Amino acid sequence: MQSDSVKRTFVVAFFLCLFCSVLVSGAAVLLKEKQVENKKLDIKKNLLIASGLLDGSEASKEIIESKFKRVKTIVVDLETNEIVDSVDPESFEMRKNAKDPSKNISLDSSVDIAKISKISKLSKIYLISSDSGSIDKVVLPVHGKGLWSTLYGFLALDKDKKTIKGLGFYEHAETPGLGGEVDNPNWKKTWVNKVAYNESGKPTIKIVKGSVDPNAKGSESMVDGLSGATITGNGVQALVNFWLSDSGYGKVLNSLSLEGAI
Ligand SMILES: Cc1cc2nc3c(=O)[nH]c(=O)nc-3n(C[C@H](O)[C@H](O)[C@H](O)COP(=O)(O)O)c2cc1C
Repeated sequence: MQSDSVKRTFVVAFFLCLFCSVLVSGAAVLLKEKQVENKKLDIKKNLLIASGLLDGSEASKEIIESKFKRVKTIVVDLETNEIVDSVDPESFEMRKNAKDPSKNISLDSSVDIAKISKISKLSKIYLISSDSGSIDKVVLPVHGKGLWSTLYGFLALDKDKKTIKGLGFYEHAETPGLGGEVDNPNWKKTWVNKVAYNESGKPTIKIVKGSVDPNAKGSESMVDGLSGATITGNGVQALVNFWLSDSGYGKVLNSLSLEGAI
C-alpha cells in the first residue's frame, strides 16, 4: 500500500478511532465506580452543609464520613406516616421508586405545585444529633422544577419542625449566575431561621422580588429573590412549600416523635 494512498489514510483513521474509543470507553468503565462513590460523597456533603454540620469549604472524605456519624437515616411511609424499619435506608433509592407505579404516588395537579407529578411512597428522612446526642434537626430530601431542570436538595428544619435551618441543592441545571445562584452561600444563609408554617399550619415560604422588608407582615417567612431568576426562585418556593405540605412530609413531621426516633 502506498504511504499516501486514500486507502491507507482511511485505514489509519479507522484504527486511530478504534484505539481512541477503546481508551475512552475503558476509562469510563474503570472510573464508573469512583464516579458513583464521589456522587454519594457529594450528596452527603451537601446534606451536612444544609444541616450546618459543615461549612461550604472543601472537606476531605474522612471529615465528611466522620461528621456523617451524627446523621441517622430513617425511611418513612408518606401514606401511613409511619417509620418503616423493614427497608434498609442505605440501599433504598427514592428516585427509582418514584418511577415505579407500584411504589409511587401520583400527585393531583391541584397539589403538584413542585411540578414533579409522582413521588415515592417511601422516603428517607435524616435526623441530626447534637453534641449531647439528642436530635436537634430533621433534614428532608426535596426536589422540584426550576426553569431548565429539576432541582434536588435538602431542607433542614430545627427540632421544632417548623424553623428552617438550611437549604441546599446538590443537583440542578439552572443557568450559572442566574438560577444557578441557588448555590450562592450568601443566598443560602438568608434561609436560616425562616418560619416555614403559618399559624394554621400551612407552609408559607415566599421568595419575594428584591430584598425582604423586615417590617413587612409575614417577613419571618420571606426570602430574598434571585435577581434575573424569578422563575427558578418561584420553583424553589413551590418545592419547599410542597414538601412541607400534607402531600409531602407534613403529616409525617406531625407524627414524628424526635425523642422516640433515635
Ligand atoms: C440564556 C438565559 C438563561 C436564563 N436562565 C434562567 C434561570 O436559570 N433561571 C431563571 O429564573 N431565569 C433565567 N432566565 C431569565 C428568565 O427567562 C426570566 O427572564 C427571569 O426568570 C425573570 O426574572 P426577573 O423577573 O428576576 O428578571 C434566563 C434567560 C436567558 C436568556
